[in-house]
Amino acid sequence: MNAFKPHLVAVADYPYAKVDARVKLDQNESPEDFPLELKARALARLEALSWNRYPELHAEDVRTALARHEGWPEEGIVLAPGSNLLVLALAQGARSVLDTAPAFPYYKGGATAAGTPYRAVPLGDGFALPVDALLAAMEGPPGVLFLPNPHAPTGRLFETEQVERLAARARERDWLLVVDEAYHAFAGTDSRPLARANPNVAVLRTFSKAWCLGGIRAGYLLAAPRVASIVRALVPPFCIPAHTGAILLTALEAPGAFAPIHARIRAERARLLAGLAAHPSWKPYPSAANYLLVRTPDAKAAFDGLVAKGILVRRQDHYAGLEGCIRISVGTPAENDALLAAAAAMR
Ligand SMILES: Cc1ncc(COP(=O)(O)O)c(C=O)c1O
Repeated sequence: MNAFKPHLVAVADYPYAKVDARVKLDQNESPEDFPLELKARALARLEALSWNRYPELHAEDVRTALARHEGWPEEGIVLAPGSNLLVLALAQGARSVLDTAPAFPYYKGGATAAGTPYRAVPLGDGFALPVDALLAAMEGPPGVLFLPNPHAPTGRLFETEQVERLAARARERDWLLVVDEAYHAFAGTDSRPLARANPNVAVLRTFSKAWCLGGIRAGYLLAAPRVASIVRALVPPFCIPAHTGAILLTALEAPGAFAPIHARIRAERARLLAGLAAHPSWKPYPSAANYLLVRTPDAKAAFDGLVAKGILVRRQDHYAGLEGCIRISVGTPAENDALLAAAAAMR
């Protein structure tokens, strides 16, 4: 097939295989659904809309609400159907993409699809942020550095001082540091002050995790207005559907409804960590996100053993340095009980 650019010959599907299971702990979704009362409000809003009309060009209505919620200028916000799409847009626009290894796979996936040069710097011992190696890599021609914090898939939270050093280098060398805060609500961290003070830093956030809206597909970038206008040019017009907009506006009217859900997830995360720490051969790593990375003697055996008991987790042993690892999303108390009971019966 010669219709496509040659680099696309190497593009692979996103590494996700759907498996049906009673207890689904594989995608770091919220274990609790969007609150019923808010669903009813969103449906009423949706009914009142004219479905024959296009939605706003770049979700201006949602961006106005987000600007208020985030304390960020509306011109500096880009909304897309999932932060994945913003990763792709950033990778398309970037001269090069840099991240850590391991890291959330779509930074590399986006760069590969876009044909953008890609490099990764391995994490240090105990999944430490390799600050000096990243600073050295940033001596080269500028590009976009993606940094998930809390980190995916390890769950490790990097220190503000370390991120600040990367941000300072981004400014010196005119890189864009994108701090991916998909999981910040579970860590209580916030990179907005850094991005406010430094136009070479942007913050990527999503409605998929902390807002219980994984199925609705929406994510956003908070950036300096001139960065945001470039990224908006890489996102197609009218791409936030009217129904998504109705749901997001409803969520943004009731942010307080989600804080108790985050508190329950954090409490369950601590309980899961303590329960798995008592396992004779599994080693869970502390996490600031809504999942735990767990090292087992054999990831395939752990995955298969859990699936046989109706529990789906995600293997991570394809990453260098994560041999034997699986990733377990924090579920409801009953789901976590099932996971702990199944794990206790395995060696
Ligand atoms: C670190 C990180 N960034 C971005 C995403 C993608 O989120 P979205 O659902 O907004 O595309 C994920 C999804 O798992 C993630 O783990």
